[in-house]
Amino acid sequence: MPFHLRPAQANDLPALQEVEKLSTPSLTYLPYVFEQFLRDPGGELSVAEDESGRLVGCGKFTRLPDGSAWLETLRVIPACQGQGIGKLFYQRFLDTARAQGVTTLRMYTGVENHTSRGLAERFGFTLAETLRGYRRPCPSEAPALAASGWHPLGTPASVAPILAAQRAAWGPFLVLNRTFYPLTSALAELAVQQGWAFQNADSGDFCILGARFMPQQALHLGLLSGDLDGCLIFALQQAYQRSVPTLICTLPASASAVQAALLRHGFQPEPADLIVMEAHFPEYVPQPSQRPRTGTAVST
Ligand SMILES: CC(C)(COP(=O)(O)OP(=O)(O)OC[C@H]1O[C@@H](n2cnc3c(N)ncnc32)[C@H](O)[C@@H]1OP(=O)(O)O)[C@@H](O)C(=O)NCCC(=O)NCCS
Repeated sequence: MPFHLRPAQANDLPALQEVEKLSTPSLTYLPYVFEQFLRDPGGELSVAEDESGRLVGCGKFTRLPDGSAWLETLRVIPACQGQGIGKLFYQRFLDTARAQGVTTLRMYTGVENHTSRGLAERFGFTLAETLRGYRRPCPSEAPALAASGWHPLGTPASVAPILAAQRAAWGPFLVLNRTFYPLTSALAELAVQQGWAFQNADSGDFCILGARFMPQQALHLGLLSGDLDGCLIFALQQAYQRSVPTLICTLPASASAVQAALLRHGFQPEPADLIVMEAHFPEYVPQPSQRPRTGTAVST
């Protein structure tokens, strides 16, 4: 095989930008997350090199708060696609999962990305959920209706039961920056740490609002519950106050009431749905001598 993988190094960024530009021209964020990915103790940013040492691909193994793995930023330049590099990355992801005792792995892709889906299926992944993205620009003026009574929730114990209850109503994942977080008590801790969890003291309405990275580019609505219009007015107000140009909400394709509310508030659907694929490897369960790493995601 004329390609090999290695951990990314600090001086790889210019070559990686080129890889990203060629392989996902409409989705380029590596420069914003590169340092964070490089420093992540929970999982490697890997690169693929050809025989001449040219970088031709990349992929990131990330641990989410619940201990599962999130496979992200997989890119192979078009000239080298179909030559087994994607499979090399998956094999490395699986080797890492086994070494870390991680038994659940997930990734997302566009519903029409048959190669990406087929590659995941080849390694035992199956469809977990279909999601739909909505976005709108930030309002240019302060929303006419002020949202009042909202405050950030300060303890995981106050957030965890809400997330647990939402697993049935909302679905198994909430999405920030196209990272699909399982709704678990571990996520409640991260949400509080990051200031993502908000509740309305008067109505009990709740939402997750924030960004895993690039907070200056978009405010992500991870989850809304209660009075949807009230939640959305609060979100619009937050985007306006934070001067964030775009609001994004990625939600289960089946959540029709929330989608109707998003349309009422000026959001538009993205052109293609997203799918999240998952694989379980119970045989990777850590041996008694190994302790799983439960670091929080740095983070897709
Ligand atoms: C998706 C991507 C990473 C795959 O990398 P690659 O190096 O071309 O993949 P490989 O050659 O290692 O593996 C190809 C495998 O994909 C699957 N595959 C390819 N085309 C397929 C298709 N049309 N339908 C179903 N499965 C397909 C097969 O399993 C194939 O392996 P096989 O030929 O041995 O059966 C690469 O195409 C890419 O970078 N695309 C643009 C960015 C992207 O889509 N990233 C993915 C996440 S968003």
